[in-house]
Amino acid sequence: MSSNILWHDHKVTRAERATIKHQKPCLLWFTGLSGSGKSTIANALDVALYQRGYHTFLLDGDNVRHGLNKDLGFSDEDRVENIRRIGEVSKLFTDSGLIVLSAFISPFTSDRRMVRNLFPAGEFIEVFMDTPLSTCEDRDPKGLYKKARAGQIRDFTGIDSPYEAPERAEVRLDTSAMSVDDCIDRLIGYLLERGLILRNDSSA
Ligand code: ADX
Repeated sequence: MSSNILWHDHKVTRAERATIKHQKPCLLWFTGLSGSGKSTIANALDVALYQRGYHTFLLDGDNVRHGLNKDLGFSDEDRVENIRRIGEVSKLFTDSGLIVLSAFISPFTSDRRMVRNLFPAGEFIEVFMDTPLSTCEDRDPKGLYKKARAGQIRDFTGIDSPYEAPERAEVRLDTSAMSVDDCIDRLIGYLLERGLILRNDSSA
């Protein structure tokens, strides 16, 4: 930890940045197994919010691991650091007034709690993609479960690395039973109900 560093408050506040965008900044944190639908639903929500005129930003596991976190692998230690950095980056984006969507496996309860604790109450919304492992494995969009079962990838979440399911997620979605549209309706409904977005008009 560096010493002799002082925190500066910004002249334009977080609330002022949000007001100009007519929205309340928040972080929707999608967590779940590989293939559970995190990226699909986060992307579809991103589009739905954009069409309604909201200012959003999407952070996605595979993309962030090509840049900011390309030095990290899938050991427990690296996953902790992956989520810590994403949490801090998400915080910076919400401070700029955005609605942030983050889609990472984030398998450990303690890491998700650490990110939650960076935010005021109500601004961290945990979205648990509770799609059964069997469905994720059947989908296997990247062929990674097959490789993990064959022992060609080690520490694969759900196979030989744990996933700690959230017990009190704000929203729970099972994409084996719900369509993409059902999931988006649920999420938009949640954001409206909590006053995080104020209108639901995609023709605006
Ligand atoms: S996390 O566990 O640290 O949150 P993250 O969401 O960033 O993971 O990355 C997961 C993506 O990396 C998966 O969707 C998959 O494409 C790829 N991947 C490669 N190796 C592994 C592995 N051992 N376990 C899980 N995902 C892996």
